[in-house]
Amino acid sequence: MQASANGSPTAQIGVTGLAVMGRNLARNFARHGFTVALHNRTAARTRALVEEFGDEGSFVPTETAEEFVAALERPRRLMIMVKAGAATDAVIDEFAPLLEPGDMIIDGGNAHFLDTRRREAALRERGIHFVGSGVSGGEEGALHGPSIMPGGSAESYAVLGPMFEAISAQVEGEPCCTHIGTDGAGHFVKMVHNGIEYADMQLIAEAYDLLRHVAGYTPPQIAEVFREWNKGRLDSYLIEITAEILAHTDEKTGKPFVDIVRDAAEQKGTGRWTVQTALDLGSPTTAIAQATFARVASSRTALREAYRRLSGGTDHPLRPHEAERYVATVEHALYASKVIAYDQGWTMIRDAAEEYGWTIDLADVAAIWRGGCIIRAAFLDRIRAAYSADPHLPSLLAEPEFADEITRAQVPWREVIAAANRRGIPVPAFSSALAYYDTLRAGRLPAALIQGQRDFFGAHTYHRTDREGVFHTLWAETGRPEVEA
Ligand code: 6PG
Repeated sequence: MQASANGSPTAQIGVTGLAVMGRNLARNFARHGFTVALHNRTAARTRALVEEFGDEGSFVPTETAEEFVAALERPRRLMIMVKAGAATDAVIDEFAPLLEPGDMIIDGGNAHFLDTRRREAALRERGIHFVGSGVSGGEEGALHGPSIMPGGSAESYAVLGPMFEAISAQVEGEPCCTHIGTDGAGHFVKMVHNGIEYADMQLIAEAYDLLRHVAGYTPPQIAEVFREWNKGRLDSYLIEITAEILAHTDEKTGKPFVDIVRDAAEQKGTGRWTVQTALDLGSPTTAIAQATFARVASSRTALREAYRRLSGGTDHPLRPHEAERYVATVEHALYASKVIAYDQGWTMIRDAAEEYGWTIDLADVAAIWRGGCIIRAAFLDRIRAAYSADPHLPSLLAEPEFADEITRAQVPWREVIAAANRRGIPVPAFSSALAYYDTLRAGRLPAALIQGQRDFFGAHTYHRTDREGVFHTLWAETGRPEVEA
């Protein structure tokens, strides 16, 4: 621990909000040789951190906002790690008056990107840089190397970038941190990360459900399947932890852990934001939406109770040799659906970049998600390569290798979903991913009929396939003549 001997500022960064994420980020900075000023609403937390971890590096504990700001070297770098929402505004209101032009406030919480845009604009007027930064990896990541997604000005990244890159996860010598784009771009990309996280988790859960109820495997057997999958193209943190969870036995009952947990999935809301935003942007993020709705539906106890005894599908259980083949089929379905879900995420980022005027390097997004974050996965290397080769790639499926894999996966993918439907096992994320694939693949969509219906009841007009212009059919008139609108 280090105090400012002559009262002059010594800290390269300050962290306010020392709950577990803030505390671990502060320790991570200190462990990388930065002097870290500490502040918390209740000073006891600050003292506890220094008592417990003071020997890990150089900390400057402070009690008041004034002391905290005075401990920071100029331009001041002040990181807020409080619960996203009103608390963030309260902390900004407390500290901003104590800052000077050129100083930086970094919000490392899971803020809504529109709040970040608002805060950034307001602080910019006062000459203060506001950096909304996504931080992924949970408490372990915060301590040992998260994936960091900072937004804000290029000028602020020039100062903060080297510090963030030092404390971030490293993959093959590269930091899992890059300047995402201006104002809310960092928090936007973090939100989409979480949306993809929801989709990936739901897809994995559906695969588990199928292996359990179609193949008839036990949770420890399924854990083994996931361990095997983790050695191949599905290699990822989420598959790895799924294997561990499925292999875990509840101490109290001796039952598989997964059987003693209530089947009602909760959320803090970043998935919901992703879906809401996708609708606003017109981004078809169907797998993320289904995953979010699946959580919501799982938690609707009364509704589930009302449906519980209604009839469903049936089919014969698989014989052992069929079950073995089935595992490979589910792997295809999981992989193909996962590629679709990630592709939808990237489409959404591209849509937002256009809407908000951000320049986001899509290859870099893949690169910084290879380590530290919850969706870290081997195949992000390939997504990165695809966007590096062609930054304007319209979709991952426009890349020959991904297209080829999906083509090869499609028969088993369809089989898995059909078998689940026959048995009445819900696979909303698998199904929506396949439906998305089929939607984009189709030569003609029944959307033409919808246009006709809209024109019929509301004179909403339509475009013709053979002529430019906007048309309306006079449906009520004899012969239904067409007029140009
Ligand atoms: C991360 C996680 C993190 C958090 C989610 C959980 O990237 O480190 O996404 O942000 O674990 O907010 O979200 P839910 O509670 O909504 O599942």
